[in-house]
Amino acid sequence: MGFSRRVEIGVLSCAAALGLTACRGVQPMLAPGGPQAQSIARLGWFILITFSIVTIVMWVLIFWVAARRRGSLEEHAPYDAPADKRWIVFGGFFVPTVVLCTIFVLTLNTMRKFPMGDHEQHAGPPMITITGHQWWWEIEYHFGQGVNEHVVDANELRLPTGQPIDIRLQTRDVIHSFWVPRLHGKVDLVPGFENRIRVQVDQPGLYRGECGEYCGPQHAHMILLVDALPPQEFEAWLAGARKPAAPPTDPVAAHGEDVFMNNACVLCHSIRGTDAHGLVGPDLTHLGSRKAIAANAYPNGRGYLEAWVTHAQSMKPEAQMPNVTAFTGDDLRALVTYLEGLK
Ligand code: CUA
Repeated sequence: MGFSRRVEIGVLSCAAALGLTACRGVQPMLAPGGPQAQSIARLGWFILITFSIVTIVMWVLIFWVAARRRGSLEEHAPYDAPADKRWIVFGGFFVPTVVLCTIFVLTLNTMRKFPMGDHEQHAGPPMITITGHQWWWEIEYHFGQGVNEHVVDANELRLPTGQPIDIRLQTRDVIHSFWVPRLHGKVDLVPGFENRIRVQVDQPGLYRGECGEYCGPQHAHMILLVDALPPQEFEAWLAGARKPAAPPTDPVAAHGEDVFMNNACVLCHSIRGTDAHGLVGPDLTHLGSRKAIAANAYPNGRGYLEAWVTHAQSMKPEAQMPNVTAFTGDDLRALVTYLEGLK
């Protein structure tokens, strides 16, 4: 392969990586979905354009120096001539100072728009708590002050559009990081400490996020899906989410419920309205209505659920979900029928 061809492929790969993953892919950083991300994007564009201009000017000067007629040694003025010093003072001191100070001030100004810690003014209900686990997200919606006035869900965060929402961030084990690029900058979930952020989504739709801090072997499979709904739809969803699981009517699903309740599943998972109160894994009360499983690593469907129950360690090695290989074919099918019916 010729040198020019290799350069061409390199440039195209970089452009594709930047263009497709960062700007237009599943997590387009430069398409903000709310005011918080908007202010970060504005700062990002300013920095990108400023540094592009500085870089272009530098390269033009380098090419100009390299290509201009050199003449003989005698024709050159001494290198410490006053004109050369002006270049050094202007290009090496004045320009960097102005650029870096401007960016510093604009960054401080952007950071001011992200109140951390206790907000003086609470944004109003619902208050949401997100807890990081290795490797999934626990999501709790508080709609009142009472002990039981909350709903626990996992891995799919639903938000009403057009209003600021306060989110508390905490972790059960190691440091994770909440990162939904179209909604907010990265904020860490730190053991023994609670961070607070305020998020607003303007347009309904799906916004993908990930854990933004390396937290163990399955860090890359710790995906958070944000589903922004118009306020009435959000209220309707919340009303449904508050309901406990409906008892299965279908005999196969009823057998599946027995399988669930009489095996290891019940030790780690909760299903509201049943005897399952485990707190190790995600709450499964409305598992059937989730778009994906295993912290959004695999689609939610029969085949994936069966595979997850029996071979979780192949799909997500070192996750706390063990390979549950004890079920016979009929029990497994009944169990998955039951899980799929948890809408
Ligand atoms: Cu959690 Cu990375």
